[in-house]
Amino acid sequence: MSGPATKRIAILISGRGSNMVALADAVSDGRIPYAEVAIVISDQHDAAGLGKARERGIEALVIERAGRTREQHDREIVSALRSRQIDLVCLAGYMRILSAEFINAYRGRILNIHPSLLPAFPGLHAQQQALEQGAKSSGCTVHFVDETLDGGPIILQREVAMQDDDTVDSLSARILVVEHKLYAEAVARVLAEGPHSE
Ligand code: GRF
Repeated sequence: MSGPATKRIAILISGRGSNMVALADAVSDGRIPYAEVAIVISDQHDAAGLGKARERGIEALVIERAGRTREQHDREIVSALRSRQIDLVCLAGYMRILSAEFINAYRGRILNIHPSLLPAFPGLHAQQQALEQGAKSSGCTVHFVDETLDGGPIILQREVAMQDDDTVDSLSARILVVEHKLYAEAVARVLAEGPHSE
């Protein structure tokens, strides 16, 4: 008897790639079952995550924006995803807004992780926003990506308490540890339940 088909995950990064590594590890150790990280794509040629993907035997591709419109750039990425028969796209520190064409091509199958309890503190520097506003707690959220900025349907979120002496760095580090677990749980849940539909 054969089990469920293996789902093919693509992870898009721009930098360090610690969430990408967390997802790859969760696939390897079975916390994300029936899945494979088929490709990592970076829009930055010097993203540290590229080497970490290759060390794990994952194809790592650079598709830079340089000289192209957002639409042209995204078309190239979508074409790379299609040629590898990708089922699910995970944004992990990918620092670009996706075009409508990209979102439509994978609607309900694109996830993002954000370091706050959305809808609080969307956009850049979420941890700094939380500190500046004197929030008692913050956290992280995994959500589906739609045309809104960090505003798509929420899959999972988890709170992280503030400490009196927190800095952006200390808070970011504590949230990051939680991100790594939460993202894997959210991906496993989405793969088990199927893509999001309106
Ligand atoms: C994470 O804090 C993530 O929530 C945000 O960007 C950061 C990426 O870190 N979207 P990494 O590249 O996964 O280490």
